[in-house]
Amino acid sequence: MRVVAIGELKTGDRLGKDVYANAGDGLPLLRAGVRISDSYRASMERAGILTVWIDDVISDGIEPLEVLEEETKRRATSAVNEAFKDISASMKKGGPQLSEEAAEEMGEVAELIVRDIARNIHCALALNDLANSDGYTLKHSLAVTTLGLALGVRVMHRYGWLDAQGKRRFDDIENRLAPLGVGLLLHDIGKLAIPPEILRKPGKLNDDEWKAMKAHPMLGVDILKKAESISPLARAVVRSHHERWNGSGYPEGKAGAAVHQFARIAACADVFDALTSDRVYRAALEIADGYTFIIERSGTDFDPEVVEIFKAFVAPYPTGTRVVLSNGYCGLVKDVKNEAVTRPVVRLIVDPSGAMMEPKEVDLTQEPEVTIVGTAFEIPELAPA
Ligand SMILES: [Fe+2]
Repeated sequence: MRVVAIGELKTGDRLGKDVYANAGDGLPLLRAGVRISDSYRASMERAGILTVWIDDVISDGIEPLEVLEEETKRRATSAVNEAFKDISASMKKGGPQLSEEAAEEMGEVAELIVRDIARNIHCALALNDLANSDGYTLKHSLAVTTLGLALGVRVMHRYGWLDAQGKRRFDDIENRLAPLGVGLLLHDIGKLAIPPEILRKPGKLNDDEWKAMKAHPMLGVDILKKAESISPLARAVVRSHHERWNGSGYPEGKAGAAVHQFARIAACADVFDALTSDRVYRAALEIADGYTFIIERSGTDFDPEVVEIFKAFVAPYPTGTRVVLSNGYCGLVKDVKNEAVTRPVVRLIVDPSGAMMEPKEVDLTQEPEVTIVGTAFEIPELAPA
């Protein structure tokens, strides 16, 4: 399978994965296996979809990493959906509140995600299609949770967590993961109390609108007030995920270790996913550009320890994406290794003259003089698969 832009799809191309509309009803717009026709292409364009996975000869045997099992995705999507409905309903009767029942379901879903992540702990985080669900908020909640937990478990194993006395601890890490997951799932819950015309405004926000938007972390804390099973660790994520390492964030302008470690992890996951997802007001950045954005802000916006882990484990060129090499060859990323994320295994498909070649795999960890210099190249016309 490989990733292609909608504009490059040809009639007859076969979809490799289900395609979901960006604001749909939870059902796939198109199923994996269907052949692309003009009308399918048009309906995907209307739904705002920019890239899809296709199956063809040159990408045969390239499989994207699926961190979450289908069942986990399904339960997480429905739990987050239910919680959102629950809060919207309570909004009409006084203040919005998350029910205890919904809070407990969040806890169970977080455990499932933790289990799936543990299963993939030896893989690099090739996260080009993490959540694969419909609707930005749901997709974003799931993607941030998966990335945040995957970072969190590695951050705590390498650097420990700080206890109330400021001491680094390495015990009890496993029990801290589900609360981190709950915090990540609910990090933007306060946005439910913000008028949709501000949330979905395509242009720039004015001062008043921006002030309303910046209230979402504390509104989130309020919504969780009565849900007793929500741990203080999860509440810290909701409250502080927009704080920045240098104190330039909100709502409190806290800096450095005064911001809870879990919120520092969430900040990194939140910004990366927001940058690399399509939004109403702009198209997504390339994953490699999102990767660089985070790394460049180590020590200013983000906790250097979190960024160290991010840099080592998140793949800037995930499986199935295109790369241009410094020796003029172009290909598809076949495999990404842990702690060698900028040097994947690449299946070469186009030679330096721009012609299709007999596919050949190169492991860039074994070719120190070759680097990745870009992601855009033309694939010459292929015979249909
Ligand atoms: Fe937020």
